[in-house]
Amino acid sequence: MDKFVIRGGNPLVGTIRISGAKNSALPCMAAALLTEDEVTLENIPRVRDIETERRLLASMGAEVGLHEGELKDRTTIDCRRLSDPVARYEIVKTMRASSLVLGPLLARTGMARVAIPGGCAIGGRPIDLHIKGLEKMGAAITQEHGYIEARACRLRGAHLVFDKITVTGTEDLLMAAVLADGDTLMENCAREPEVVDLAALLIAMGAQIEGAGTSTIRVRGVSSLHGAHFRINPDRIEAGTFLIAGAITGGDLIVANCNSAHLGAVIAKLHEAGARIDVLGPDAVRVRAAAKLRAADISTEEYPGFPTDMQAQYMALATQAEGVSLVRENIFENRFMHVQELVRMGANIKVDGSTATVRGPARLSAAAVMCSDLRASASLVLAALVAEGESIVDRVYHMDRGYERFEEKLRGVGAQIQRMGNVFTPREAAAVAD
Ligand code: UD1
Repeated sequence: MDKFVIRGGNPLVGTIRISGAKNSALPCMAAALLTEDEVTLENIPRVRDIETERRLLASMGAEVGLHEGELKDRTTIDCRRLSDPVARYEIVKTMRASSLVLGPLLARTGMARVAIPGGCAIGGRPIDLHIKGLEKMGAAITQEHGYIEARACRLRGAHLVFDKITVTGTEDLLMAAVLADGDTLMENCAREPEVVDLAALLIAMGAQIEGAGTSTIRVRGVSSLHGAHFRINPDRIEAGTFLIAGAITGGDLIVANCNSAHLGAVIAKLHEAGARIDVLGPDAVRVRAAAKLRAADISTEEYPGFPTDMQAQYMALATQAEGVSLVRENIFENRFMHVQELVRMGANIKVDGSTATVRGPARLSAAAVMCSDLRASASLVLAALVAEGESIVDRVYHMDRGYERFEEKLRGVGAQIQRMGNVFTPREAAAVAD
């Protein structure tokens, strides 16, 4: 298992370019299931979840090609022959977003078998709302041997009201609705930019959709969709993570190739915490730390609120801010796995239910720590960047699920970070330190 060896203390200075959004790329790849034509996607990040999705589509008979060009990479997906509309447990268990294929598979082939994703480090992650919506659209759904089997000759448009806002649930049902017979009205939808990306691709494929990005989406079903060419938006969570990296290390960082319009809540909070943030334009943000970081509370919410996917990283920053910061996690029930590891590095954090109280500034000292999930990993790396001494961040495969070349990008702006493979000796650690 790979580890990062990180020596803290360097302010990060320079420019970091943001990759395409993993959470847009995943539903967009699933959308290719809706057509017999080829779908071409640009700006797909090279991360492990994308490789998992590629394997998932390929296991169903799709042809997925990666074409590397001088200026841009293109991924082509051809789902003409779907020989096996089954999402197997072996693949689904490694990535819960695999449930995104349920809606499009059912809409396209009239049948889908998808393994039920288990729990994960950050909570139960049920998909009951996906199932409820598909049933309302006329699907017959059974559950057996750990699989959901859904059947429908043709789905029909329906009035769907989500009991709770769900991002992939909104995306899954949107993909089902575009090929349904008649109109679908979806209410209490997720408004995340990733939903907007997916809708834009579907519209380019011939779907009739209005209101994506608001809580009410209207879809007029069409009988078939065609191929399209689409560019994935930059990853707002990766951008936010690097903004915090700039602020926490007291650096001067330009986060380029991002979409600054998607970063409102994070930018506002960094301002409040005392960082100097300048939006340089629609695709670049500069961050510099103020003389002193100040405590500021966060409360995770659905977009456009403060993202739960930035909570762990923000907590690392809060350990360095003067005063008491309250961090409330409202989306997932168990998303404080990073806390104990931060405490081992010297942070002063107490958790009570869904609220963590962070007292700062704490002098962090290097330690061997363990990643528990994707964003928790980023939090530990951020803490290690300001800790005294050399930290070892273990199980970085969690990080590889969603961050493209994370350590290379950090090294490019002055961080001392190395990836170490399975065999790791104290002598190698010493080599990194020098
Ligand atoms: C997506 C993101 C993830 C992000 C999360 C919240 C992707 C691939 N992943 O995950 O990075 O952290 O949104 O912004 O886009 N829920 C139910 N029943 C359901 C579905 C969800 O109760 O059928 C609950 C969940 O347990 C959770 C809340 O709704 O408490 C929000 O989850 P959801 O928005 O669905 O998260 P994901 O789409 O899985």
